Amino acid sequence: MRDVLLDNEDLLRINNLNVRFRTSEGAFRAVRDVSISIRSGETLGIVGESGSGKSVTALSIMNLIPNPPGEATGDILFNGRNLRNLSPEEVRTIRGNEISMIFQEPMTSLNPIHTCGKQIMEPLLLHKGFTKKEAKVRALELLKMVGIPIPEQRFKEYPHQLSGGMRQRIMIAMALACRPKLLLADEPTTALDVTIQAQILELMKNLRKEIDTAIIMITHDLGIITEMCDRVVVMYAGQVVESSPLKELIKESLHPYTEGLLRSIPTITKEKQRLHTIEGTVPSPFNMPIGCSFQPRCNYSTSLCSEKTPELVHITEERAVRCWRHVNEGKQG
Ligand SMILES: Nc1ncnc2c1ncn2[C@@H]1O[C@H](COP(=O)(O)OP(=O)(O)OP(=O)(O)O)[C@@H](O)[C@H]1O
Ligand code: SF4
Ligand SMILES: [Mg+2]
Repeated sequence: MRDVLLDNEDLLRINNLNVRFRTSEGAFRAVRDVSISIRSGETLGIVGESGSGKSVTALSIMNLIPNPPGEATGDILFNGRNLRNLSPEEVRTIRGNEISMIFQEPMTSLNPIHTCGKQIMEPLLLHKGFTKKEAKVRALELLKMVGIPIPEQRFKEYPHQLSGGMRQRIMIAMALACRPKLLLADEPTTALDVTIQAQILELMKNLRKEIDTAIIMITHDLGIITEMCDRVVVMYAGQVVESSPLKELIKESLHPYTEGLLRSIPTITKEKQRLHTIEGTVPSPFNMPIGCSFQPRCNYSTSLCSEKTPELVHITEERAVRCWRHVNEGKQG
């Protein structure tokens, strides 16, 4: 079963990830028993509302959860190694090299006191043993590849001299410099206006073909996922509630939460009027409902749903869902 056993084709496998935070208000579980896998060259989308644990899951892959207040357990298997057993030094040799990340706000990742060119050269000098001359040639190629006009000029400029869209292109150039096997993109277009957002998504789609990097695309917008991804993992309140190939998910969603997300995409429902929104809000992590976490917002809930927590069950090799309505169709996993 795909999300239970280690599949030889998997590039990355997250097994039973749990992340707990201790705060002044008390302790809570931000990520609960999450198992996700991605194959080489695949684009996997992780979707869910704010606070569902998407970023914490991504940060856990690179051992970037601050401890304290966070504490992560579980296994992160990448290319045959368990990243959770590596030393911080060993993880640094992977970060920015075999696995890179792009975040929502490029200014938090770009260094304001270095030129864009220097920042793109850095991973090549650090991980690939390039000479400065070789790194400069490659950095200019990368600037061209991500669609930056007049690359020689931009090479010399500082991040604050560029627009948000251009800065995000610089981040992508940096992230792809070492031809990573895996790219983690955490809301890479959320901070941009709609036109620039479409351009950056188009760029990522084209680059994916060129460099054959697996991508984990994290977003609260299922519309972005339908444009980009091969498979989808839907998260709700720190748990995976559905995982499926995109085509099958669009044809028929299994979890009521996914159904709500799909109905909020205008191009899929072809609704011209008011968009559907899922009523209610994500439960507080300090006050999770008993039974199914989605139960207070679910139109299909029964008394069982507010008594017992459903497990994630596999309906087919590629599809899994956490909902009592489907328990008899699948096997627990
Ligand atoms: N360093 C931290 N200390 C305490 N709580 C944290 C920390 N980082 C995240 N959390 C909490 O963990 C939960 C999951 O957060 P996460 O950032 O993964 O959500 P998300 O799905 O990425 O949401 P968004 O769409 O808003 O980015 C939230 O309740 C958040 O407040
Ligand atoms: S388990 Fe029950 S409450 Fe939860 S999503 Fe399924 S039907 Fe709704
Ligand atoms: Mg986030």
